[in-house]
Amino acid sequence: MATDDPQVMMKLTEYAANLSAHEDDVLRWIEAETERHEMPTINVQPFDGRLLQFLMRAVGARKVVEIGTLAGYSAVWLARALPADGKLFTLEKSGKHAQVARASFERAGLDGKVELLEGPALDSLRRLQGQAPFDFVFIDANKDGYPAYLDWAVEHLRPGGMVAAHNAFRNGQVLAPENDEDRLIAEFNQALVANPRLDSLILPIGDGMAVGIKKG
Ligand SMILES: C[S@@+](CC[C@H](N)C(=O)[O-])C[C@H]1O[C@@H](n2cnc3c(N)ncnc32)[C@H](O)[C@@H]1O
Repeated sequence: MATDDPQVMMKLTEYAANLSAHEDDVLRWIEAETERHEMPTINVQPFDGRLLQFLMRAVGARKVVEIGTLAGYSAVWLARALPADGKLFTLEKSGKHAQVARASFERAGLDGKVELLEGPALDSLRRLQGQAPFDFVFIDANKDGYPAYLDWAVEHLRPGGMVAAHNAFRNGQVLAPENDEDRLIAEFNQALVANPRLDSLILPIGDGMAVGIKKG
């Protein structure tokens, strides 16, 4: 079988996800709650969640920031990869999303490890900077905020810490940007790989995960 055949690649991706990324009842419950509350079903996929856990463990992440909580689906993946004394700060603008996410953290038994900061992410990031340096920053919110979130991450990560940004492919639109958001993500990817303070890579997983390790 040829791995340059798109159909074979799709099957192999499915094989890898089924083998190594498993959702449990809590994660499925969060997805159901997202729908029940008529929120957008735009959470990461299980394979992304597993990837984030793997990356967090690879850099020994203890203090983590997530920008864009929604119902807390990715936050649960992230928080589960923390050590016993670890902490996740997750940032959400919508009061409704924040309320649903808080219930998710309680359901997952993670409310002691996760602190949700409600309000525009840039305000919350300003409030958090006194607690820097951080080990891992996951960006998954408003696309026009990505450049500022990346700048914040580079400034407030410890050397060896990692930033990961979701939707680097923007559903394939980075290949042929049609609107401002598409162009913004294409430019963001270029800025990330060109940033001299980061060792970066765009991982072709799911909708694309752009990652960078802060240089020492
Ligand atoms: C793609 S969803 C996050 C999905 C979540 N990471 C997951 O995978 O479960 C983006 C979230 O970012 C929030 N958001 C949008 N703009 C924001 C901002 N300026 N500050 C903080 N949160 C924002 C939205 O309300 C939405 O809940």
